[in-house]
Amino acid sequence: MAVSISVSPPAAALGAAPSGPLKGRLRPPGDKSISHRAFILGSLAVGRTEISGLLEGEDVLHTGAACRALGARIERCGEGVWQVEGVGIGTLLEPRETLDFGNAGTGTRLMMGVVGGHGITATFDGDASLRKRPMRRVLDPLVLMGAEVLSQEEGGPEKSFLPIRLKGTPEPLPIEYRTKVASAQIKSAVLLAGLNSPGRTVLIEPQASRDHTEKMLTHFGATVRSEPFDTHGRKITLEGRPALHPAQIKVPVDPSSAAFPLVAALIVPGSDIVIEGMMMNPLRIGLLQTLLDMGALVEVLDQRDEGGESVVDLRVRASDLRGVDVPAERAPAMIDEYPILAVAAAFATGESRMRGLSELRVKESDRLAAIAAGLAAAGVESAIEGDDLIVAGRAGEVPGGGVAVTHLDHRIAMSFLCLGLAARRGMAIDDAAMIATSFPTFQAALAGLGAGFS
Ligand code: S3P
Repeated sequence: MAVSISVSPPAAALGAAPSGPLKGRLRPPGDKSISHRAFILGSLAVGRTEISGLLEGEDVLHTGAACRALGARIERCGEGVWQVEGVGIGTLLEPRETLDFGNAGTGTRLMMGVVGGHGITATFDGDASLRKRPMRRVLDPLVLMGAEVLSQEEGGPEKSFLPIRLKGTPEPLPIEYRTKVASAQIKSAVLLAGLNSPGRTVLIEPQASRDHTEKMLTHFGATVRSEPFDTHGRKITLEGRPALHPAQIKVPVDPSSAAFPLVAALIVPGSDIVIEGMMMNPLRIGLLQTLLDMGALVEVLDQRDEGGESVVDLRVRASDLRGVDVPAERAPAMIDEYPILAVAAAFATGESRMRGLSELRVKESDRLAAIAAGLAAAGVESAIEGDDLIVAGRAGEVPGGGVAVTHLDHRIAMSFLCLGLAARRGMAIDDAAMIATSFPTFQAALAGLGAGFS
């Protein structure tokens, strides 16, 4: 597995030209969240886990490298097919070198949970984007469980930044922890640390976030209970020190990657495409629900089960979209999809308002600012009011012709390329390099539908 130390690669500008109708079928890559977790839980089970459909993006490969540094044997057997020879809970090795996560927040935070719950010490680091992302939210519960932060970059009372040296505890205290933000990364870090606890770990989140960790833990044989808590929240209870059995994992298509061809087909006139195998986990399909509210012509063709998730083929046709008001409660189910929703909103008739987006400020970039700046460069008016984003729809007539600055953010990059396919004068981005973190085949996949990039 080739993983480079993350000095940021040189910027690679890319343009998207106004496109004729997009036509054909495509299967976007495997889900990033599930792929990270497959490597991690495979490493914590004793024996051989077999994974198919793994996302071979840079983020996931960095997590794989970290798992190897902790003692797992990980091998690629074919396209998307990997084997993990796990070492088991409690018996991980101390890594000799810094764990470099590149651009990957999920890998970093989940592996902090793994290290925090073991008697080992590790240094975590990443690229310029990851070094700006807050880690205190994960370190706080880990410290309550007995881990110790040996060094960190200070960022004021609320923030800890990479590089961070974390000393885990061999006997994590069983805690009941209430998170302030609905974050699957915080939840997963606590549960992963709790795996090595002699007692019961309880995590309460204010709104339900993606449940892949809970589902996969159950699949590997752990006892995890998830129940409603207050109006929108959930309470998750994990019994510590389970025997995790190696498993077969079939990774379904990532709805967060499918989002790009989905919106591109809606906004490029005359388009008619089929997206194959998209995962319909209810905690991940807020974008689809929102697009349907906007009048999108999307048809479900074939519902089936893959790897414990419901998946479908989606027929998507170019549509006259209407502006929409997205409630804050929907944010966890579409947290990564606001950049591409903002693009859809730019082509809609009327104003769109997306509420409660404070978390977008701490993603791979400050996405609220990056979206607003990219829209301005495309000739689209938008405003940020508190934590809300308002986009003035241009009823299919987006001027384009500008350059969106991506700030090392893959989703900003792909969103503005999609905008360029339907804008009058196309659109460019300053740097396409980060697309490889989550959707390495993005350009080829969209070109296969008829899109033009240069
Ligand atoms: C992820 C959770 C989300 C999401 C990220 C992937 C995960 O982050 O933005 O891309 O796999 O757990 P938060 O849980 O911090 O919102």
